[in-house]
Amino acid sequence: MNQLVKSKIEGIGKAIPSRVLTNFDLEKMVDTSDEWIIKRTGIRERRILAEDELCSDLAVKASLSAIENAGLTPADIDLIMVATVTPDMPFPSTACLVQSKIGARDIPAYDFSAGCTGFIYGLIMADNFLKTKYCNHVLLVGVEILSRIVDWEDRSTCVLFGDAAGAVVVGNSNNDSGVLSTYMSANGSLADLLYMPGGGSKFPATKESVENKLHCLKMEGNEVFKAAVNAMKESALVALDRANIKKEQVDWLIPHQANIRIIDFLRRSLKMPEEKVVVTIDKLGNTSAASVPTAMAVAVEDGRIKEGDLVLLVAFGAGFTWGSVLLRW
Ligand code: ACO
Repeated sequence: MNQLVKSKIEGIGKAIPSRVLTNFDLEKMVDTSDEWIIKRTGIRERRILAEDELCSDLAVKASLSAIENAGLTPADIDLIMVATVTPDMPFPSTACLVQSKIGARDIPAYDFSAGCTGFIYGLIMADNFLKTKYCNHVLLVGVEILSRIVDWEDRSTCVLFGDAAGAVVVGNSNNDSGVLSTYMSANGSLADLLYMPGGGSKFPATKESVENKLHCLKMEGNEVFKAAVNAMKESALVALDRANIKKEQVDWLIPHQANIRIIDFLRRSLKMPEEKVVVTIDKLGNTSAASVPTAMAVAVEDGRIKEGDLVLLVAFGAGFTWGSVLLRW
């Protein structure tokens, strides 16, 4: 019988496209203003992937950085998971393309879709693969090229999103560090508040589907906002409760970066000071499945997150899906 072990993040990396799209650039594209975008969302700029680059290319950059940070090589990876709603193509999976591009062995590789909660879902899956000793080193990537599914004529959505990739290698922990508790949930009855109707078998690409922009992201922002604040708070509290940790003990809150007002609501619910919350939305916008791992990578790289710190990851996204992971760095 397998003995349960604890998993931990062994290495972390990110890849951020170099092209910056500012609110002032958007003012020239749609009827919006820098002032409105900052006040309603906290976003000042976002990054856009170069036209000749792919989701898998950005995922590879983040992956190689995470593998190097873990002190490993691609040959050490036993399984690859990619959380994304913007894969290179519906199939084969972007994870298989990453497997080939980084020169990993013949190992399991798959994509999965959980919207902005993708990275949290993936970390929980990785934790369970590790706990059951199915593998030793899982490469998990959260990557989105949302610029390619956004309707650039719809001011209510195009100002919100950006492109990025974050990756971690998850392995066994032999000390206090690692995943302490997890929580994940979903409610598909709210699916049509945030979705992309085209691109699947429901609306195969036709002249009409393209003309009607069915291959673009649609969102009822107000309704999503209300559901997000509640689900984020619930997720944070359940993870804390399951680990028997008080909110005051948390060193770093890393929430999904959808809107600074959602982040502030969560922070106030947890009675946390602003300094303990990692915020990247001003520079990157909402990068969906990439937002939690890139924010975590930023805070690790700039030295904020240190060994032994308690880190709370919380996300909410299309589905609706939501969840959390509490870990000791
Ligand atoms: N510039 C200027 N005005 C705008 C813009 C814009 N970019 N966008 C909308 N407006 C206008 C609207 O037309 C509306 O005008 P009206 O009053 O004349 O009708 C007004 O601003 C208010 O619009 P609301 O949609 O009510 O604005 P709100 O304050 O709700 O902010 C926002 C919109 C930012 C989208 C917010 O609702 C939000 O952040 N929602 C949550 C998004 C989220 O959490 N997504 C999570 C998951 S994402 C994923 O999984 C891929």
